[in-house]
Amino acid sequence: MRQRQKGGERIFFFYPFPLLDNLIAKSSKVRKSTQPLPCSRGAVTKKSCVTVMNTRKVYIETYGCQMNLADTELLVGLLKPHGYEPTKTAQTADVILLNTCAIREHAEERVLGRLGELVHHKARHPGVRLGLTGCMAQHHRDRLLDKAPYLDLVVGPDAYRTLPALLAQDDKDEPLVSVRLDRDETYADITPVRGEGIRAWVTVMRGCDKFCTFCIVPYVRGRERSVPLTALLDQVRVLADQGYKEVVYLGQTVNAYRDGEYNFADLLRRTAKIDEIERIRFTSPHPADMSEHVIEVMATCTKIAPYLHLPLQSGSNKILERMERGYTVEYYAALVERLRSAIPGLALSTDIIVGFPGEEGADFQATYDFVAAVRYDSAFMFKYSAREGTKAYKWNETLSEDEKGQRLQTIITLQERISAEINRQTIGQTMEVLVEGPAKRPEGWLSGKTRQFKTAVFPGAGAQPGDLVSVRVASTTAHTLIGEVSA
Ligand code: 5AD
Ligand code: SF4
Repeated sequence: MRQRQKGGERIFFFYPFPLLDNLIAKSSKVRKSTQPLPCSRGAVTKKSCVTVMNTRKVYIETYGCQMNLADTELLVGLLKPHGYEPTKTAQTADVILLNTCAIREHAEERVLGRLGELVHHKARHPGVRLGLTGCMAQHHRDRLLDKAPYLDLVVGPDAYRTLPALLAQDDKDEPLVSVRLDRDETYADITPVRGEGIRAWVTVMRGCDKFCTFCIVPYVRGRERSVPLTALLDQVRVLADQGYKEVVYLGQTVNAYRDGEYNFADLLRRTAKIDEIERIRFTSPHPADMSEHVIEVMATCTKIAPYLHLPLQSGSNKILERMERGYTVEYYAALVERLRSAIPGLALSTDIIVGFPGEEGADFQATYDFVAAVRYDSAFMFKYSAREGTKAYKWNETLSEDEKGQRLQTIITLQERISAEINRQTIGQTMEVLVEGPAKRPEGWLSGKTRQFKTAVFPGAGAQPGDLVSVRVASTTAHTLIGEVSA
């Protein structure tokens, strides 16, 4: 079951067995598509041009992490030139896509539940095409069609380019499965269609080579590859011209970024030179890839926000080793010390998994003690969920769901207390807040983020989204700073 300290869901990904040749279709139910596909890379046919003429509505529902949200923006960017316009409800759509997550079983159950609802809608509107994209599509591939035979499309994270062509195919009777993983696919040439706002999410690398034993990501997202630095800087300059004030660089192990010439520190340093961009963030770095160069750039470049999400997973060396995380507790603790001494005011968050196979009471206690000692600003905490295809899947679970649940609750309670205490220390301080828009409540108030990525709400006083304002913190909760505009 998904568990995290504050709302939402984060995800991740896996790699297939016969790489690169698992193209369109495998099961007997699935009609094979011809190659090359119209509109896939470098092969545009007349047929696709006909599609461009008719505007059709596409509704995409996103599950999972920020990378999936960024992929949804990419999907809209891919579909738009083919005559598809985004729409905000399934009811108004010609094409409904669920862009999915496979990180934990619960994420997949939610999607199956939602499909169960949408099948009724599809029965009432037979012209509607229903598709599943992203990590769960890759994870289950043709098997999905046994559970959801009414799906028209199943498209994996490296096969998004095939989507316009699949949608253009006339024969709607058989589902189409497009799940080839492509170790060169970065979508560098596609311009995502972003929502309104002052923060733009930019995917700088895709895939993961780490193969932590619990994690499905390297199998569903494929091997690590980076977008060329020049393409990224061009993209960010356009974003700056469009009025975005903050960029968030995304990647499964974002600090492993390397395009053959430049590394992640280079990318950060160059981005900081783009005038109109006020703040730069990134997520998620891997502790083992946290180079001295990146720490130096964070320490010296004021535009790079003093906030780091540094997944720990476990505070026990025995468990870290079984997870094949590639670091020890001692290494991680020294890294935190180095980061905190180099970057004053640094806020830290983390990911924790409880109940990994073999986690004994002493191992959990070690995680608890470590979390208590580091004092993270916030944390995402999860019960271990066995994922078919991973190394750990073959290992016996040593805890019941109830026992995992109890450990989860224990650590959530600890972290809630720490988050509340850390936030309380900001009372009376004045924080720089980048205004995002209206707060959910109270009415008339605005909401934004501090440099440490904490949510602040405060009375409007004429400030606009994109403004940097000074907010004096009057009171706090575990998740929010409540203030007033002081200047
Ligand atoms: N079970 C529970 N949590 C998981 N995560 C990744 N795989 C699993 C799994 N099988 C968590 C990790 C990761 C975060 C994005 O999701 O903590 O950092
Ligand atoms: Fe998954 Fe580990 Fe890669 Fe993170 S580093 S995406 S946890 S395999």
